[in-house]
Amino acid sequence: MKRFKKVFLVCLISIVFCFCFAVGSAAMCADADGDKVLSAGDARLVLRISVGLEKATSAILQNCDMDYDGKITAGDAREILRLSVGFGRSDDSGADGFEGAAPIGITDKYYKIYNINGFTFIDGLLIANKTYSLPQGFAPGGLYEECETAFNTLQSAAAKDGQYMYLNSGYRSYASQASIYTEYVYYYGYDYAEAYAARPGHSEHQTGLAIDVTNSSGYFTGSTQAAWLHEHCADYGFILRYPEGKSDKTGYNAEAWHIRYVGKAHAQKISASGLCLEEYYGITSAYA
Ligand code: DAL
Ligand code: ZN
Repeated sequence: MKRFKKVFLVCLISIVFCFCFAVGSAAMCADADGDKVLSAGDARLVLRISVGLEKATSAILQNCDMDYDGKITAGDAREILRLSVGFGRSDDSGADGFEGAAPIGITDKYYKIYNINGFTFIDGLLIANKTYSLPQGFAPGGLYEECETAFNTLQSAAAKDGQYMYLNSGYRSYASQASIYTEYVYYYGYDYAEAYAARPGHSEHQTGLAIDVTNSSGYFTGSTQAAWLHEHCADYGFILRYPEGKSDKTGYNAEAWHIRYVGKAHAQKISASGLCLEEYYGITSAYA
């Protein structure tokens, strides 16, 4: 009888242990659920890991069953998780967080270019322009939290200086960018569309890291709000992406309203250079 009790206890403990392990594993995957596409949750986890808010531990990587839809594979997602550790950081040491990966090229300013299954990173920054596209399936579903918080802080600081500005357009999915581009072509013609709207898959708005700012009049270009934004946005981690006189580099006409979140360190060094992002890194922005 004593022996039976002992066996029973061992079995019971084993069952409890297995149950706890299963629950624990599932919990670890809470943000990157095992759905068939890279879901908004998965994408946001990628971004969180990208800026170091979460560590891409082997536990997360092994347990997250991010399956593929033919565009972003489980392997892609894991690669991004594993490799995008330098995003949003710059310590000028040349370390870009991708030491384990082979760059696909070097820019004209000698920065390594990494293409991690469809995502392009330079100096730890996710790049989206006419040359470098984003995977169609990449849909974070909203502004990246750190970018949103930074914008709220910027907005409050501007208001304290008597400059009231608002978010006009933030995150846009691949599909909504396709509608915008098509509408521009329809209403204003192909040349205008090409000068002001990115083709789907090429917009920074799809990353959740870009914001179009406006004021109460809706006339932002040349306004005191625009002047304030351009002078101070780097203090909050943003750069003006399409400045005046840089169309041949950025591929777009000047947009006084479009800012891109790159984190304070990148923003301050890029802004202080007086160069646009393409010039700073020595890259092109032109459709293939
Ligand atoms: N207006 C910018 C270029 C965009 O459509 O992303
Ligand atoms: Zn924009």
